[in-house]
Amino acid sequence: MRQAVLVAPKQIVFKEVAAPKAADLNARQVLIQVKRIGICGSEIHSYHGLHPATFYPVVQGHEYAGTVVACGAEVTKCQVGDKVTARPQLVCGTCNPCKRGQYNVCEHLRVQAFQADGAAQDLFVVDEERLVKLPDEMPLDWGAMIEPSAVGAHASARTEVKGKNVVVSGAGTIGNLVAQFCLARGAKKVLITDVSDLRLSKARECGIAHTLNVTKGSLKEAAAELFGDEGFQVGFEVAGVESSIRSLMETIEKGSDIVVVAVFGKDPALSMFHLGEHELRLIGSMMYRHEDYLTAIDFASRDVIHLSPLVSNRFAFEQYDEAYQFIDSHRETAMKVLIDLDQKG
Ligand SMILES: NC(=O)c1ccc[n+]([C@@H]2O[C@H](COP(=O)([O-])OP(=O)(O)OC[C@H]3O[C@@H](n4cnc5c(N)ncnc54)[C@H](O)[C@@H]3O)[C@@H](O)[C@H]2O)c1
Ligand SMILES: [Zn+2]
Ligand SMILES: [Zn+2]
Repeated sequence: MRQAVLVAPKQIVFKEVAAPKAADLNARQVLIQVKRIGICGSEIHSYHGLHPATFYPVVQGHEYAGTVVACGAEVTKCQVGDKVTARPQLVCGTCNPCKRGQYNVCEHLRVQAFQADGAAQDLFVVDEERLVKLPDEMPLDWGAMIEPSAVGAHASARTEVKGKNVVVSGAGTIGNLVAQFCLARGAKKVLITDVSDLRLSKARECGIAHTLNVTKGSLKEAAAELFGDEGFQVGFEVAGVESSIRSLMETIEKGSDIVVVAVFGKDPALSMFHLGEHELRLIGSMMYRHEDYLTAIDFASRDVIHLSPLVSNRFAFEQYDEAYQFIDSHRETAMKVLIDLDQKG
């Protein structure tokens, strides 16, 4: 079978390797035919050698969907032919966070595609525990986007958004999904911001009506116009730049919550005096747990969140390298880039 391995930064090697066999599955494992793989920003960092926690060589691919080819003897979640996706988190199950059920912050967390091999190959073995069945009618493209959707499902549940006014700073794939989940969870009004008109028009296409280009107007003015005297009570930092989180902190109502979803390449200098005086809470958000996958599948299948507008480009498996280069040279227009394993290269 085909396998794409990132052996070193900017070096993808295509290998022909022995396919895993149904006979070798343990009782609780499932063999899947991988059909779609989404590429995400963190993998672009690995591709450039800028992800501090990537162990090379590594098989990439952690946002994927496929169909079941074989099941171990005790598997009950799925059957041959089912559409499925799976969480890429390998956890220890015994550390304190794991014992508390917070396995997304396991002390020994290994994420497939970064610290363990991922799904960039034709056939992939998955533990049933991490597998999630997709509805038969769900497009495989959406299946591959359940992973980033689960990030949105988790982040939007880190604090109560129902009935509150919300600002999401950053309208990339993740910010867009966070905003969609806030609306789905009953936020009163949601304003999403970016520096790119194109990304903001994508947001509107996904049903996020209120947008602000922060290069053309201030958050303070836009928030006053949209929320009036009410202001906003929840902020999501999904841009990963200092000016973004600073303007959230400076504009949000006193006594409010800001969920930090973005990974900051450089630590921002923020006023802890302001944070204390305004009794703000900064809340972290790390990936997702199983229930977030279930919520993401539920919301996507009921059209409560919209995934199709996020797919910007697709490439064949043999074009993995071209896909990375394309994302590099089309930073603004490339949203979710999919590798389609059914497509001929
Ligand atoms: N917490 C998690 O579990 C988790 C999971 C996945 C991704 N992430 C992180 O979330 C972040 C967003 O991911 P993405 O894939 O959407 O990335 P992205 O780069 O596509 O999106 C970031 C967006 O922020 C915009 N931006 C830049 N400056 C801004 C500003 N001053 N104000 C408002 N917007 C601004 C950019 O134009 C871009 O559209 C990244 O940092 C990523 O690493 C976190
Ligand atoms: Zn990812
Ligand atoms: Zn653990």
